[in-house]
Amino acid sequence: MNNAGAIPFGLLPDSATVSSDGSLEIGGCSLLDIAAEFGTPAFVYDTDHIRTRCREAIEAFGPGRVVYATKAFLCRAVARLVYEEGLLLDVASGGELHVVRSAGVPASACTMHGNNKSVAELRLAISERVRHIVVDSFDELDRLDALHAEGLPAPDVLLRITPGVHAHTHEYIATGQDDSKFGFNLGNGDAELAAKRAASSTSVNLVGLHCHIGSNVFAADSYAKAAELIAGFAAPYELPELVVGGGLGVAYVTGEQAPTIADWAAAVAAGCRAAGVTSNVSVEPGRAIVASAAVTIYEVGTIKPIPGVRTYVAVDGGMSDNPRPVLYGSGYEAFLPRAPEAERPYAARVVGKHCESGDILLFDARLPADVAVGDLLAVPVTGAYGHSMGSNYNKVPRPPVVFAAGGEARAVVRRETIDDLLATDLG
Ligand code: LLP
Repeated sequence: MNNAGAIPFGLLPDSATVSSDGSLEIGGCSLLDIAAEFGTPAFVYDTDHIRTRCREAIEAFGPGRVVYATKAFLCRAVARLVYEEGLLLDVASGGELHVVRSAGVPASACTMHGNNKSVAELRLAISERVRHIVVDSFDELDRLDALHAEGLPAPDVLLRITPGVHAHTHEYIATGQDDSKFGFNLGNGDAELAAKRAASSTSVNLVGLHCHIGSNVFAADSYAKAAELIAGFAAPYELPELVVGGGLGVAYVTGEQAPTIADWAAAVAAGCRAAGVTSNVSVEPGRAIVASAAVTIYEVGTIKPIPGVRTYVAVDGGMSDNPRPVLYGSGYEAFLPRAPEAERPYAARVVGKHCESGDILLFDARLPADVAVGDLLAVPVTGAYGHSMGSNYNKVPRPPVVFAAGGEARAVVRRETIDDLLATDLG
């Protein structure tokens, strides 16, 4: 069996350290203590890590030019935290807008997204006076005309342009190519038609253009290309705002190397220079801000070796708290918080507790040889698109979110109870 070595600390939150008893601490808090206090599974975030990434992004792109994509991870505490750090917020539904507003973040800091916004969502966005609505389709322009005719004010809008750039990522999260449900295609002339219509419309104020080529993108040069295309298209309209979306990739497994936020900014700046852009350029990172800030802790419940086949290590969560392996075949690493520096020679498939064989968290995990039932097992880089894409499949209550910093751990989202499972059930 190959020995995978110890978990690389580069995959762990910035504050991860080994305490005197050899176990792992995050934000000055022992993961073993957090598990004892809040139970498992649980998402544990290093909030200073999130703050550091926010500051890096503002340093790289400038104040007022970084918009946090809340779909990556949203609760009121994180909305407040990123807003406090000077970020604006991207919401992709009326629900996300509601949570962000309930956190006390002003609508003037919010950008409203969505490829199929309902009339109710548009009405909410306009009456709350969000900063920008990113218009995605001709049908949406029709709906905005109708709302204006009803007497609502004309909102400031960006148009989402599909630049025809294929980001090299999983098919389900690539969005910049011509064959996409999102935005106005540059290639077939739709972008131009939409820009002309919006520029002369009285029901919207066209203030800029937007594109988003995909998510978990590792090739920084894809951004240079997208930025150049969209900036070139924007030039004749002399629009003050240009948004090149989010999507910067992060490392999930040993050996992966993602561009830094500064590399990303350099690629975007190069594309804009090439197009002679004069607008303000903003970005919308989600994953790059929160993904590696968190680990999910689980308890090992069963270990089933099948001689000549494989060993299954089952934990007390699964596809309901992290559907990414099932959806995208995403890779993760695992380690034991009691022994983060232990070598990991033991090959196993880490699975969840759901009633299907596809409920896999790690296809080919390497674990310490003494992993045992009752051990706490942690999976790093679960801070983005884990909690936010969680479900109640098999009526498993969703895990809590614990924020750790300065030696204090506090739940900012409590674990769901079995009564919560009945909250919407009318009997
Ligand atoms: N802006 C727009 C318009 C987006 O659609 C997205 C992500 C972002 C920004 C933020 O992208 P990020 O920086 O987080 O990559 N569930 C998938 C990711 C879907 C991303 C959807 N849009 C996953 O787990 O990989």
